[in-house]
Amino acid sequence: MEVKIRKRKIVLVGTGFVGMSFAYSLLSEKGINELVLIDMNKDKAIGEQMDLSDGLPYADSKMTIKAGDYEECADADIVVITAGAAQKPGQTRLELVGINARITKDVATQVRMSGFSGILVVASNPVDIMTYVAYRASGLPKEQVIGSGTILDTARLRYNISKRLGIAPSNVHAYIMGEHGDSSFVPWIHCYLGCKHLLEYIDEEDNLTLEDLQNIYLEVRNAAYEIIDRKKATYYGIGLALKRLISCLLNDEKAILTVSTYQNNEYGREGYYIGTPAVVGSNGVEKIIKLPLNEMDQNKFNHSFDTLKQTIEENLQ
Ligand code: 2OP
Repeated sequence: MEVKIRKRKIVLVGTGFVGMSFAYSLLSEKGINELVLIDMNKDKAIGEQMDLSDGLPYADSKMTIKAGDYEECADADIVVITAGAAQKPGQTRLELVGINARITKDVATQVRMSGFSGILVVASNPVDIMTYVAYRASGLPKEQVIGSGTILDTARLRYNISKRLGIAPSNVHAYIMGEHGDSSFVPWIHCYLGCKHLLEYIDEEDNLTLEDLQNIYLEVRNAAYEIIDRKKATYYGIGLALKRLISCLLNDEKAILTVSTYQNNEYGREGYYIGTPAVVGSNGVEKIIKLPLNEMDQNKFNHSFDTLKQTIEENLQ
């Protein structure tokens, strides 16, 4: 189905730290006409709307910001769900599955009842599973339901490689794939810095070793735990990652992002969502990029997918 960006209207469901970091970052995005904030706690949504609107004279869009209800989704182009419980110190994302599935299902059902027909973006954790839950409850085509997947993990990876080698993150083409969680992985054979393969940087001049790469991955995998231990939550990184995703959708950018996509055997598994590189434009996930995986990476993908599938089967069906 062709989705036309019509009103340049975004609805955000969930005005916690993640939702509001994203909303705040939208003030520096061009071409947004309307932002609506929905929260179970209506007063919180109103307070956030008032606070955020104070920044509008300095914003890059001439948008209006409202606190509203689900009927606002009817003519929205994009609805973003960040509602749900956040990880506590020591907790895995998968441990949030029960409580957040109930919330996500309820939110996506109300979005469907509004008549919404745009792109539904999900960021609540465990995000791959919540995207599946939202897909099932929303009644939307699978390409129009997108999870933030591993866009944040990929940003963390690119930043860490960039720091290690002293090359701009924009020139680091490397992806984290799989679950946005502990079973994610890096297909290292597909990482480039500019046009030079990352593994060619393993030389004396750059002093990079395979062990360094493994440590970079571990830092990425453990980043959320490290941050949550110290400040109880993560929100700026995901806020900006969501802004990047919304910009691709609004501007039909057709950029490649590692979002959570519905699998139809592109990587040998089907029926659920998981982080893969994909072309993102105004129709949502326009194409899943099929990277040829070596045996080791294919096993990691299978393990990650099967972990998500098993969690769904044991908790939600
Ligand atoms: C993050 O990776 C907690 O999923 C969140 O920062």
